[in-house]
Amino acid sequence: MTSRTTPIAVLISGRGSNFEALYGAIREGRLPARIVLVLSNVATAAGIEHARSLGLHTAVVPSRGAGSRAAHEVRVREEIERAGAEWICLAGYLRLLSADFVAAFPNRILNIHPSLLPSFPGLDVQQAALDHGVRISGCTVHLVDAGLDSGPIVGQRAVEVRSGDDAASLGRRILQQEHELYADALGRLLTQAWRIEGRRVLFGPAANARKAD
Ligand code: GRF
Repeated sequence: MTSRTTPIAVLISGRGSNFEALYGAIREGRLPARIVLVLSNVATAAGIEHARSLGLHTAVVPSRGAGSRAAHEVRVREEIERAGAEWICLAGYLRLLSADFVAAFPNRILNIHPSLLPSFPGLDVQQAALDHGVRISGCTVHLVDAGLDSGPIVGQRAVEVRSGDDAASLGRRILQQEHELYADALGRLLTQAWRIEGRRVLFGPAANARKAD
């Protein structure tokens, strides 16, 4: 057993409840990580205020008025590298990352999304799921590539749609699952052997190292 904790950066744009869930999982000893940076691209994000009140290292790198996306990302990268983060957890971070940024942290960026991907990427997804008439929705944690909510899937939780649901009520039940799923998925990646084959994230030792059944 190792007592090493992995330094992570959490990137947010708003409320920050998934950041809080990761923080809580760490505090409760369920996630062998430490948050070395909470970064927001929005100065007024509620989550950044909360992170400050917890005494965490925070940074605001405003995307509005930053000039180009590349210029903004350079500053975000500087903060992440200065903080020594090995993993980046996007938690309601409303910016699409460039291929260059993603390539700087290969398979070390995670995102949480409130639908069962690949259904309903993007924004306003609970309404989109209701409009489509799905009976089951949920949430997804995935590795980030340069596409929109398109990287390899690490974990998912299903949430049943109820007949009286609107986007808010469905979103609340999905969010409860998000809060458990994010720490679980990151914890598996940090503590288990895993690899990517095609689009699949496979846990456990590589096939050629496995004993015959
Ligand atoms: C969550 O629903 C997450 O899945 C999505 O944005 C929302 C962020 O909520 N990417 P919070 O800021 O973590 O409360």
